[in-house]
Amino acid sequence: MEIEFVAQAAASPEKAALARVVLEGAEIAGPAGQAAAASRFTGAKGQTLDIPAPQGVDAARLVLVGAGKAEGFDLLGAEHAAANAYHAVKTSGLEALRIELPTADADFATRAALGVRLAAYRFDKYRTKEPAEKKPSIVKTQVVADSPDAALAAFPPLAALADAVSFSRDLVSEPANILYPVEFARRVKALESLGLEVEILGEPEMAKLGMGSLLGVGQGSVRESQLVVIRWNGAADAAAQPIAFVGKGVCFDTGGISIKAAEGMEDMKWDMGGAAAVAGLMHVLAGRKAKANVVGILGLVENMPDGNAQRPGDVVTSMSGQTIEVINTDAEGRLVLADALWYCQDRFKPKFMVDLATLTGAIIISLGLDYAGLFSNNDELSTNLLAASATEGEPLWRMPMPSQYDKNIDSMIADMKNTGPRPGGSITAALFIQRFVNNLPWAHLDIASTAWKKPSAVPTIPEGATGYGVRLLNRMVAEKYEG
Ligand code: BES
Ligand code: MN
Ligand code: ZN
Repeated sequence: MEIEFVAQAAASPEKAALARVVLEGAEIAGPAGQAAAASRFTGAKGQTLDIPAPQGVDAARLVLVGAGKAEGFDLLGAEHAAANAYHAVKTSGLEALRIELPTADADFATRAALGVRLAAYRFDKYRTKEPAEKKPSIVKTQVVADSPDAALAAFPPLAALADAVSFSRDLVSEPANILYPVEFARRVKALESLGLEVEILGEPEMAKLGMGSLLGVGQGSVRESQLVVIRWNGAADAAAQPIAFVGKGVCFDTGGISIKAAEGMEDMKWDMGGAAAVAGLMHVLAGRKAKANVVGILGLVENMPDGNAQRPGDVVTSMSGQTIEVINTDAEGRLVLADALWYCQDRFKPKFMVDLATLTGAIIISLGLDYAGLFSNNDELSTNLLAASATEGEPLWRMPMPSQYDKNIDSMIADMKNTGPRPGGSITAALFIQRFVNNLPWAHLDIASTAWKKPSAVPTIPEGATGYGVRLLNRMVAEKYEG
């Protein structure tokens, strides 16, 4: 999608749709006002009214887009209105979209452009027979801005964000026969062109480090497990203590010997959504040259049943030295994170660690499909994450970590077991991970609920991979850990 910022007086491109974002209750002049009155269009949030061959405007089509009440119209509202405008005309056959906002300073204009970029994301590389009339036709968006130059100058960090979210969504959308640990690592390695440093550890290196917990998960797969270390040193002092993000990257989760039911198992290709979010975060930090030192670590494995797979009841020794009785091979994400988090703090001594993982089905039961769960040992870090979540429209809810539940994962024969009872399953999972965090601020985001969307009410998130986490983490880094 090509983005331009233009002055109100600038001529519309050929074959263009004009989208006018309308506040609720605002007067709509001319024939469009009559059309609105004849179709109960009030400007309420989410409403659109499509008027082909409009009179008195220089466009092939006019779309009125409701933005809700003036008091509630904020930057997210501008994003959503622009995304709704795009959806209203994307397959119209027209090639350009021009958007007029009720407020068009650089902040609003650029967020509208971001909204269109995010809404226009599609994963269509494996479609070979889609009829032309079903394909989106809009290739260019013009946003009318008070000062086009100011908007253009402010846009690059948001364009970098849109690129990174797309990168993350692509990773999640890829099927597991294409995106296995080595291929995932290769795609991240290619980000060195943005200025990131990427190191890849294979199974021999991880064995040397004693990562028996992570390696046990990948043991039944013919695909080699990988640990990827991504570094962005953008702070004035390149040696200053970094902050760190760790992602669960289970490229496919069959459950292993504790195998999952067949129905819906195909969804488990996106069990690497945490790792994809961390990779996307590093992408945007490099893309916008963030002034922070940041480490991203991805634990990449495939969880398969096999003659060589780990069994329920096996005991593995993690890099921390702690032993784990594997009661259920389907509780594999925590086993991956145990070694990835330990390695992270051991090697980098970060200021804090945040992990992201599609960790438990139980978080979906707790919070539904819009909210991710936040578990943390630190109030300040939690406050920062929650603030960023609200600003970026990626909902997050803090969950308790009651210490009295911790004994539920004590084992009869090892230091701990990898599952507890079903009630509070997301909490036990978080308490398990916490046993691999030593005295530093840490937060765990359980994104099993949000990494993938069914048809969505949020117009900037198409059905499928959401890229959840990239925006939130990028915002937190920008507001709290730069400069
Ligand atoms: N990857 C799954 C969690 C998951 C479930 C993500 C549904 C997205 C949608 C995870 O590895 C898993 O299998 N967790 C088990 C844990 C249980 C065995 C303690 C679960 O949630 O059922
Ligand atoms: Mn599992
Ligand atoms: Zn899993």
